[in-house]
Amino acid sequence: MENKEDSMIEAVRALRDSLSSEIVEKGEAFKEIFRDFRKSMTLYSCAIREVRTKFEVLNDELSLYGSNNPIKSIYSRVKSPESIFAKLKKQGVPFSVKNMQDNLNDIAGVRIICQYVDDIYTVAAMLGGQDDITVVHIKDYIKNPKPNGYRSFHMIIEVPVYFSDEKNSVRVEVQLRTIAMDFWATLEHGLKYKHKIKDEEAIVAELKDCSEQAYLLDTRMQALKTRINRLE
Ligand code: GTP
Ligand code: MG
Repeated sequence: MENKEDSMIEAVRALRDSLSSEIVEKGEAFKEIFRDFRKSMTLYSCAIREVRTKFEVLNDELSLYGSNNPIKSIYSRVKSPESIFAKLKKQGVPFSVKNMQDNLNDIAGVRIICQYVDDIYTVAAMLGGQDDITVVHIKDYIKNPKPNGYRSFHMIIEVPVYFSDEKNSVRVEVQLRTIAMDFWATLEHGLKYKHKIKDEEAIVAELKDCSEQAYLLDTRMQALKTRINRLE
């Protein structure tokens, strides 16, 4: 398997090749871009660790009070250099480390899978309320699902990452979903990579219906949990 460093070098090389020849001749410019890019990627992966820890701490604390592990699992990833370049290109923005930091909100991504819908709002509010977290924006696709049936709660946040002599504010995309929402989104995501879809209309309609069914199950499970918790 190609190691991460190799793929980063490869991607930055491709970037250098796409820059004007004037810049390429200045080897120093390349070195500088590469150094800044690497530092930025390190900041994103450190920011992910900070955010994961915050959720793990909340989960531990909430488990003390009887909500049995409201967070089922946590996934995270740093966007690959190839995807970063492709997304900027799609936006028509030339590559620079600053442009990537300013224009892409999802280079660092954390996905939180909760058991119940209420848990999502509880942990999201707790994270958003922490005084070192800035909430840049929220998209509530649970209250306002996408037309295809996609549901999740999205937050773009900024979290401080401390290096030896500086504090960096780093943007992270946090997606919170129930197990059922994740089940649905994972299957639906597969459609994105299919080119010739036979019976597309029927598949889209079936997915939409499954999304409603999944939400119905989430709602019933939530109500049942509340009833069971009230029992002596
Ligand atoms: P990008 O799609 O990343 O450019 O983001 P955006 O600015 O449109 O933001 P949005 O919050 O709508 O989506 C961010 C992420 O949520 C996506 O990259 C996916 O991971 C997930 N997502 C959004 N919509 C869908 C959807 O319809 N289906 C699935 N499976 N995932 C989705
Ligand atoms: Mg994205």
